[in-house]
Amino acid sequence: MNNEEIYYPSEEVIQQANVKEYDKLYQYSIEEREAFWAEQAEKLEWYKKWDKVLDDSNKPFYEWYRGAETNIIHNAIDRHLGTPTQNKLAYIWEGEDGEIKTYSYHALNREVSIFANILKAMGVKKGDIVTIYMPQLPEQIFAMLACAKIGAAHSVVYGGFSSEALLDRIKAAKSRVVITADGGYRRGKPTHLKKIVNEALEMCSVVEVVITVKRTGEAVEMQNDRDFWFHDLKALPIANGKCETVHMKSTDMLFLLYTSGSTGKPKGLVHTHGGYSVYTATTMRMVFDIKPEDRFWCAADPGWITGHSYIVYGPLINGATIFSYEGAPNHPYPDRWWRMVEKFGISILYTSPTAIRGLMRFGESWVEKHDISSLRLLGSVGEPINPEAWKWYYKHVGKEKCPIMDTWWQTETGGFMIAPLPITPLKPGSATKPFFGNEMAVVNDKGEKVATGEQGNLVIKAPWPGMAATVHNDDERFVETYWKRFEKQGFYSAGDAARKDEDGYFWIIGRTDDVIKVSGYRLGTAEIESAIVSHPSVAEAAAIALPHDLKGNAIHGFVILKHGLVASAELEIQIKNHVAKMMGPIAKPESITFVDALPKTRSGKIMRRVLKARALGEDEGDLSTLAD
Ligand code: WT7
Repeated sequence: MNNEEIYYPSEEVIQQANVKEYDKLYQYSIEEREAFWAEQAEKLEWYKKWDKVLDDSNKPFYEWYRGAETNIIHNAIDRHLGTPTQNKLAYIWEGEDGEIKTYSYHALNREVSIFANILKAMGVKKGDIVTIYMPQLPEQIFAMLACAKIGAAHSVVYGGFSSEALLDRIKAAKSRVVITADGGYRRGKPTHLKKIVNEALEMCSVVEVVITVKRTGEAVEMQNDRDFWFHDLKALPIANGKCETVHMKSTDMLFLLYTSGSTGKPKGLVHTHGGYSVYTATTMRMVFDIKPEDRFWCAADPGWITGHSYIVYGPLINGATIFSYEGAPNHPYPDRWWRMVEKFGISILYTSPTAIRGLMRFGESWVEKHDISSLRLLGSVGEPINPEAWKWYYKHVGKEKCPIMDTWWQTETGGFMIAPLPITPLKPGSATKPFFGNEMAVVNDKGEKVATGEQGNLVIKAPWPGMAATVHNDDERFVETYWKRFEKQGFYSAGDAARKDEDGYFWIIGRTDDVIKVSGYRLGTAEIESAIVSHPSVAEAAAIALPHDLKGNAIHGFVILKHGLVASAELEIQIKNHVAKMMGPIAKPESITFVDALPKTRSGKIMRRVLKARALGEDEGDLSTLAD
């Protein structure tokens, strides 16, 4: 390798790595894909084994472990019971107010079984979809696991989303039951989640039961016959700690999770019990090198795929100890994270470039206050990590001994697709090489491989067990969004631009579609624009992303006002707040520019790239399709 900026793993890291060699195993995994994935699946327990590892007779609706029966809970909890793992810590939680809760695998099983029995008593059945809208509380995780245990699918909606966004997702999933909390703590102040649920339900009749966990004790409005306090239900005889885990087909739905695309409303990606179990378990074991004695902290929110795969399922299947924290990273001081790493002896920390940049801003003296020598591996996800943040993380958090696992993946992929192993030489800013079994390529618009170092579309050339099965109730959209573009070749189109260098390392550049990554969160320009246009003063709008030091990207809106209205600073604030109310605070635009016209093609499509080039003072490129 001819790049100077390469960081080699230490002897110590290599010595203890679960996987000590990449090239040969990678070669084997793509030549004998089914054999490789059968061997990984053999490491888990199944009620009934598969008759075929991969059924590709109905592309792109691939079926993994066809004919097998399992339940992810069997591997995440049940099989640890009666082994020494039963009495080790499964889960440590710290509230923002300093409250600490700990659960052994035995206790986790009890909590999940109690929750599962309550859901059953509320009429939840196999195949139902339960919506979970909660802050980061232990009950959020118990609720997810309880759904899975009884064969219901969970749909977790991020607690930062607005009542409108929540309503859309409840309606799309037709959830009879919603699980929430009165609120949680954020920067010392209570949030008001139940209130948002109440607002959403005013406009919706499908929900019959709302279960509310008490966290803050703030007054909330409870409606007779619909609203139940979790602690009241827990006191009933039905809420006992024994519950059978329901047998599921490998291909049955485990959860759905909504994510934004380039068009229309967010789509619910469907993940299944079998393939997803194998994929999260394997990636966790090989990339994060998980050992039974590890304390693993994935600082994402369970409301995102990162939380599903690597707070909850991947680590529990591996019998590790997970840690999660309720609140803000800088509350009450910017050393909160490092204090907790020290206190609990966290050994692996997985977070986002945005979070790293946010903590970096306060300076390393906050890190140095604490003995964080328990850390042995670090991780990054969500967007490309800028080398400056990478180096800060490596030097000040990892003390130049912890390799950084920069993991590229998506809600759709279920788990890591491009990621190093602890033994992989690292280049800051590159997610390095494909994970086992994955064939990735950078291609031009015709689907042909581009030359080394050239930019193109990132594609996945072969199926993998973590892949989403479909878009909920919309097979057509699944095909259209991911498989149509390179239909001839049968490639999955990731929607990202990338380069592959002379060492086979992948460098992700960013989205090629109309999806914006703000602080690592994925938002569709179409959704943002329709939120802006729903403001009574707005006639037309366009939204683009521009670089931002902390967030990676920030949203900038361009607005044409309705006839006769005059632009003002006040109106700008109003529109920004309106978007935050419609979608949630993460979608709040950084700026609104009032314009008389928007650049459009003759067919009426907004040319966002022209707005962007103009804002950045760059060349506007080919304007031949511009209407005027
Ligand atoms: C998009 C997927 C997968 C969990 C979190 C995001 C971007 C993700 C990386 C990375 C560069 C990354 C891509 C991708 N992305 N990880 N390590 N380096 N870019 O899941 O919300 O489904 O977003 O996030 O653009 O397509 P998501």
